[in-house]
Amino acid sequence: MIQIGIDYYPEQWDRSMWEPDIAKMAEMGVDVVRVAEFAWGVLEPEDGRFEFGWLDDAVDLIASHGMRVILGTPTNCAPRWMYVDHPDTVQWDRDGRPTNLGIRGHRCQESATFRDYASRIIREMCKRYAGRPEIAAWQIDNEIEINHCTCPTCTAAFKAWVKARYGTLDAVNAAWGTEVWSGQLTDWGQLTPPLMRQGEGFQPDWYNPAYYLDYERFCASSTAGYVRFQTDIIREYDPDATITTNTCFGGDMMPGFHEECASLDVASYDNYPPVTFSADEPHSNAFGLDFVRGFKRRDFWIMEELGGQMGCWGPISPALAPNMLEGYSLQAVAHGADLLSFFRWRTASTGAEMFCHGLLDHANIPNSRTRALESLVARLKTMPGLDDTEPVSKVAMLYGADQEFSFRDQRQSDGFAYWDQLRLFHDACMNLGVGVDVIEQSSDLAGYEVVIVPSMIVCDPEVVSHLEAAAKAGATVVVTCRSGVKDMNGNCVVGRPLPGLLADMCGCHVLEYDPIGRARRQVRTVHDTTLAVTSWCDLVECDTAGVWASYEDRPYDGIPAITCNAYGKGFVYYVGTVGDRDLYRTLMGSIMRERGMAHLDDLPAGVEVCERSGEGGTYRFFFNDTMDEKGLMVDGHLVTLEPLGMAIESDEGWK
Ligand code: GAL
Repeated sequence: MIQIGIDYYPEQWDRSMWEPDIAKMAEMGVDVVRVAEFAWGVLEPEDGRFEFGWLDDAVDLIASHGMRVILGTPTNCAPRWMYVDHPDTVQWDRDGRPTNLGIRGHRCQESATFRDYASRIIREMCKRYAGRPEIAAWQIDNEIEINHCTCPTCTAAFKAWVKARYGTLDAVNAAWGTEVWSGQLTDWGQLTPPLMRQGEGFQPDWYNPAYYLDYERFCASSTAGYVRFQTDIIREYDPDATITTNTCFGGDMMPGFHEECASLDVASYDNYPPVTFSADEPHSNAFGLDFVRGFKRRDFWIMEELGGQMGCWGPISPALAPNMLEGYSLQAVAHGADLLSFFRWRTASTGAEMFCHGLLDHANIPNSRTRALESLVARLKTMPGLDDTEPVSKVAMLYGADQEFSFRDQRQSDGFAYWDQLRLFHDACMNLGVGVDVIEQSSDLAGYEVVIVPSMIVCDPEVVSHLEAAAKAGATVVVTCRSGVKDMNGNCVVGRPLPGLLADMCGCHVLEYDPIGRARRQVRTVHDTTLAVTSWCDLVECDTAGVWASYEDRPYDGIPAITCNAYGKGFVYYVGTVGDRDLYRTLMGSIMRERGMAHLDDLPAGVEVCERSGEGGTYRFFFNDTMDEKGLMVDGHLVTLEPLGMAIESDEGWK
């Protein structure tokens, strides 16, 4: 059974409200209640004085209503006394100074003092709750960001990481090419994190990219180490504990998720899909869901599901449209979520998030969102086997943290973004009703018919050999521009035409390139379709490959832009430009037809079709991710989907 959860903050409410709140949750069919993630200040009001009575009572109350608890370690919000008494626990900003206190997430993940305090509070929690049947799972911290702290401890940790990787300063200087701009390091004491120039804001492109890439790799592994530090403690007390952390994307939220999730049992995501729609963006919220499923290559949880209009981090968003709560929840389920915990029970009455709405408004009376939750619970009850199924995909898309870091550090062309490349391909697959696994680039590729490799700028020779093997064995591999540009140190490869190590399998090479920014040009495909391109134009020369599309307008008319090479039993496409949605949809449609893969050619725009199957049966989900009514023919029947509506077909009929 798919589990339903509620994010609840008992410490923020008068005791008299707990019983009716929790009783109501149970009555609505809630399975788990997530508590305590920010409650350190209440759990340890003074150094070493613990107040667990209230949490004991909350856990007991939840259990007495037949529900279980997801317990958060409260480390995102250390108490103010700790920061003030121990300034070495405070994170430093990119300007090399301690951050100002007063919001949240100020802890330095590497600080030994912070870790001592964190270890103590986690151990106190474990002594009380670990291994108890009431505890369904643990959540580590909250939305952990990549560790960009620049404090002396993190500087020392960065130095130690670089020393362990390179051994000597000579090796560091050689790997980073520090002869440029007299950047040679002659003493380990000179090595710092990249610090912004006063008054300039932080400009990653101004730093040595090889140094910057290693810095980001260090930050990612520091964050993964922070997660492991907590999972190790919990497992000391309960080796069978189920442990997760709630991830989220954007800004500094890119910690190298696959490394971070290695020590966790389940990947989780905070699912805040758009409440307004823009026609220009490849917006399908399904991309994030498929991305998170790839962290552990299995079904995942939603720790925070959109429960009301958002506030605090911006103006209050519009109210949730009809079907939005239920539709987005089912969309998450369709893409592999086995647990949905809603943010949050009731909208806070105090604090910065007092307008970040939960299921209940301040008025505390039933509303359209609580009714939508009840309807969702009733619907899920009709599909008890659903959690014993998972999405099945024949298409893989490779993601590499190195690529993310490198493109963020060095913008390649105005408007070019790694993330968009991924989303455009994902959008194309969704449009064809084809499921995609977004997986870490070094993953095993067995079983995939199509492997998409967007812009592997930092080119890992091992990944290249996996791709060659997959293509030789019969897969179609799609490689895009800016692949093969850099070596694993993050320096440009010299004396080998692009796409570098991938050129052999692509059967073509790039003669020159033009980063055209936001200008637009056209390509014409072998099927005589004209498609717009932008941002980047590789001028490609075919070696063994054939042309799939050439530029159509001056000055590049007639020059190949997209090629296809027969390689072993498979094919390798090289996409030397960046298109709009239509280009990717056309290309992926052509690949599906060429391979004879099941797909839907006339799916209405914005309608997603996904399948989950396994021991619990087979379920097909039809989701209308738009604000207009849509109709589609399924096995000869017309299925009408309301805006954000979901129809589900199972072995037993429609649900
Ligand atoms: C999430 C966060 C929650 C809450 C929510 C709504 O990013 O984990 O604690 O802040 O956003 O703004």
